[in-house]
Amino acid sequence: MRLLFFLGSFLASAVSGYTWKNVKIGGGGGFTPGIVFNPTEKGLAYARTDIGGLYRLNADDSWTPLQDHANDTTWHDWGVDALASDPVDPRRVYITVGMYTNSWDSNNASVLRSEDYGKTWARTPLPFKAGGNMPGRGMGERLAIDPNNNKVIYFGARSGNGLWRSVDQGLSFQKVTSFTQVGTYISDSTDTSGLNNDIDGLAAVTFDPTSPLKNGSTSRIYVGTADRNSSTWVSNDAGETWTAMVGQPTGVFPHKMKFSPAEKALYISYNSESGPYSAGTGYVYRVSSNGTFTNITPAWAAKNSVSIGYGGLALDTQKPGTLMVAAMNLWYPDVQIFRSTDSGASWTTIWDYVNGNQAKYYTYDTAKAPWINNQRQPTDTKILGWMVEALEINPFDSNHFLYGTGVTIYGSHNLSSWPNAHISSLADGIEEESVESLISPPGIGIPLISAVGDDGGFVHYDLNKAPENSFDNPFWSTTTAIDYAGLSPKNILRIGNSQLATSTNAGQNWTLVTSVPSTASGGAIAYAADASAIVWASSAGSLRVSSNTSTTISTLPSTAAVVADKVNSSYFYAGDTTGILVSKDGGKTFARTANITSYAGVKMAAHPAVAGDVWLSTDLGIYHSSDFGTSFAQSPNVQSGNSIAVGKGAGNATNVYSFNTVGGMAALRVTVDEGVTWNVISDAGYGFGSAGANCLAASWETEGLVFVGTNGRGVFYGVP
Ligand SMILES: *[C@@H]1O[C@H](CO)[C@@H](O)[C@H](O)[C@H]1NC(C)=O
Ligand SMILES: *[C@@H]1O[C@H](CO)[C@@H](O)[C@H](O)[C@H]1NC(C)=O
Ligand SMILES: *[C@@H]1O[C@H](CO)[C@@H](O)[C@H](O)[C@H]1NC(C)=O
Ligand SMILES: *[C@@H]1O[C@H](CO)[C@@H](O)[C@H](O)[C@H]1NC(C)=O
Ligand SMILES: *[C@@H]1O[C@H](CO)[C@@H](O)[C@H](O)[C@H]1NC(C)=O
Ligand SMILES: *[C@@H]1O[C@H](CO)[C@@H](O)[C@H](O)[C@H]1NC(C)=O
Ligand SMILES: *[C@@H]1O[C@H](CO)[C@@H](O)[C@H](O)[C@H]1NC(C)=O
Ligand SMILES: *[C@@H]1O[C@H](CO)[C@@H](O)[C@H](O)[C@H]1NC(C)=O
Ligand SMILES: *[C@@H]1O[C@H](CO)[C@@H](O)[C@H](O)[C@H]1NC(C)=O
Ligand SMILES: *[C@@H]1O[C@H](CO)[C@@H](O)[C@H](O)[C@H]1NC(C)=O
Ligand SMILES: *[C@@H]1O[C@H](CO)[C@@H](O)[C@H](O)[C@H]1NC(C)=O
Repeated sequence: MRLLFFLGSFLASAVSGYTWKNVKIGGGGGFTPGIVFNPTEKGLAYARTDIGGLYRLNADDSWTPLQDHANDTTWHDWGVDALASDPVDPRRVYITVGMYTNSWDSNNASVLRSEDYGKTWARTPLPFKAGGNMPGRGMGERLAIDPNNNKVIYFGARSGNGLWRSVDQGLSFQKVTSFTQVGTYISDSTDTSGLNNDIDGLAAVTFDPTSPLKNGSTSRIYVGTADRNSSTWVSNDAGETWTAMVGQPTGVFPHKMKFSPAEKALYISYNSESGPYSAGTGYVYRVSSNGTFTNITPAWAAKNSVSIGYGGLALDTQKPGTLMVAAMNLWYPDVQIFRSTDSGASWTTIWDYVNGNQAKYYTYDTAKAPWINNQRQPTDTKILGWMVEALEINPFDSNHFLYGTGVTIYGSHNLSSWPNAHISSLADGIEEESVESLISPPGIGIPLISAVGDDGGFVHYDLNKAPENSFDNPFWSTTTAIDYAGLSPKNILRIGNSQLATSTNAGQNWTLVTSVPSTASGGAIAYAADASAIVWASSAGSLRVSSNTSTTISTLPSTAAVVADKVNSSYFYAGDTTGILVSKDGGKTFARTANITSYAGVKMAAHPAVAGDVWLSTDLGIYHSSDFGTSFAQSPNVQSGNSIAVGKGAGNATNVYSFNTVGGMAALRVTVDEGVTWNVISDAGYGFGSAGANCLAASWETEGLVFVGTNGRGVFYGVP
């Protein structure tokens, strides 16, 4: 008894403190809309992402995440809509956070302030929303700190909320009532979701640090508005009055506005669209200090009869007059990047057409994330990328530049060799995947297989090494679900792109299952323990696939969650908001057993090694069955549950992990006593964002090892 008691308390404490680390995918995996170098402190730079928070650059080209504390309450903080690094006190950094201005995010925006390079943050609530994952998120920066008075910070808002100013280092913001422009541009007025039919608002704010001071503040301030009629505004009296600049182009609006102090000139990239997916048309302009606009648009676009809307714009402040500009998107054959060493009078390109063929002047590698190149489909000519809104030259190193794309950050350390620069994927440490589903098939020497948005998914042979390949043949950008056969774990399946594929060698090679209707997509899917059958609750109804034939399962609602018993291939378990359905005949028929009411979708997990052991997680609680789904015991005190996974505990015990709410607090928890008590294993440093968006898997080989798939921060693994 003494020994058991001791063991019990040891177990309880052993699982309370977890160590968390990213599973290395290595290439970002999503869009980087903004990169900002600090002009004062050598080597200091930040990258903001649209769904995965802020990162700081390290000397070895890697990046450190700065917002892993975001949890179910603060998940929207991972949508970073604007970023400013203080030129006066480089320890200070400010971001405007908020994911959506429509109903998908009920929270108002905040300005997060840090005085220690983003290690810790304080919050200033704003009385309106931000859109870190909204149209126009690559424009900017919308946040700007007065380089002559860092108490003064401007923010250009979305949704018609206009221009805001802080005079107390971001402790509070007030509306700048003298600036009446709010931007008129809307990406898609036919969209009714609120996502694309909101006003994109103000595009960018920048200062002329060489202008006279007025009451201690910089007097000349430029504001770009997303407005095709009149987009470029200036104040010469520190924001008291504003005028539309004479000579500005129409039909377009600024994406980037960068001031060159040595030249006393403002450079502007213009685009007719807010992006990031559209292409647009546009110009590049240079505005001299007397306000004269000079059109310095590269002649290349017109010469090659392509339309280019300009995005990223970078100035080499060590070499005044040297600048770069990027097409936001040039979907075929590839994005174009331009460089000028004469203030935009003439430009050279990183590739060109020679006798009608594409001549690439650069060399490149994706060594830090081999899958980026290895997954490229034969029809895809794009190497340099797309959605190039962030483009920056290191202010202390003219050889070093970085640019953000839809999949990674690219850059070079020999920009002076332009156009023969060597481009590398430099997003090491940025893990931005949106994870859809995870499995940890036991006994095959592979700790984890992931299904992700945009980049398909990966077999993770080594959790600390970027994968060589993503899922291919068939290639889908998004894999929505994945499962393995419990008794034969090298048999795995995946769904995506309205297709189902199976593998018999743990994801090395795949076979497309052609018997399923082409209209089938989404939903839950499960592999029988011996891989003899697949049950798919799909958009085309519930299907059973076996021996290359697909039949409809009339007794299974197509909205149900489905898992297979991992030991007995006769059993499948399904759950919907009414309760549990069980199949005892390999998925041919299902019958209702326990009635467990819930309102939202339910999630299920089957024990990897025990027949008849299954867990149900709903918005009204968590339930466990050990009699093949006949009866369920409810976990006491759990108010609601999200994703759930079963893994190995100490000795031969079972750990069950779940994002759930106990005592009003949503967290990731583990139970070692079949759901009687739950210990929190997320913590103040690792919150994993939105609990409802996350997925889980747990190892049946390594005690305590659990995997958390997030919506925007990749996959974490944790051990006690
Ligand atoms: C957002 O700010 C508006 C304006 O101040 C306020 O009316 C609203 O209650 C706020 N919403 C939330 C969720 O705090
Ligand atoms: C001048 O700046 C100070 C401090 O920022 C402020 O309190 C004051 O109102 C300003 N005066 C005018 C005339 O703007
Ligand atoms: C832009 O200007 C044109 C011509 O003056 C006018 O017809 C149009 O309504 C204006 N558009 C907006 C969005 O203000
Ligand atoms: C403004 O500056 C530009 C470039 O320095 C010069 O060419 C132009 O003549 C100036 N215009 C006026 C009105 O002074
Ligand atoms: C550019 O850098 C790459 C990698 O660091 C190197 O292999 C290449 O030789 C360099 N090219 C030039 C022209 O310096
Ligand atoms: C299976 O995948 C491996 C590893 O990617 C590859 O070398 C092999 O050619 C593939 N086999 C088939 C039949 O496609
Ligand atoms: C299913 O069809 C594929 C391709 O035609 C074939 O290779 C495979 O052997 C078939 N499987 C069964 C179980 O009939
Ligand atoms: C699986 O369950 C079925 C139905 O209850 C039972 O007949 C069979 O013996 C079980 N199989 C194994 C391997 O336990
Ligand atoms: C579940 O509910 C249905 C419909 O109300 C009822 O017929 C059935 O007996 C219930 N089953 C159990 C196990 O309570
Ligand atoms: C776990 O179970 C296996 C197989 O039943 C047994 O051989 C082993 O001794 C058990 N280990 C512990 C620590 O109980
Ligand atoms: C989530 O973050 C908020 C804000 O930092 C904090 O108050 C709360 O305690 C956190 N929740 C958990 C479960 O740690």
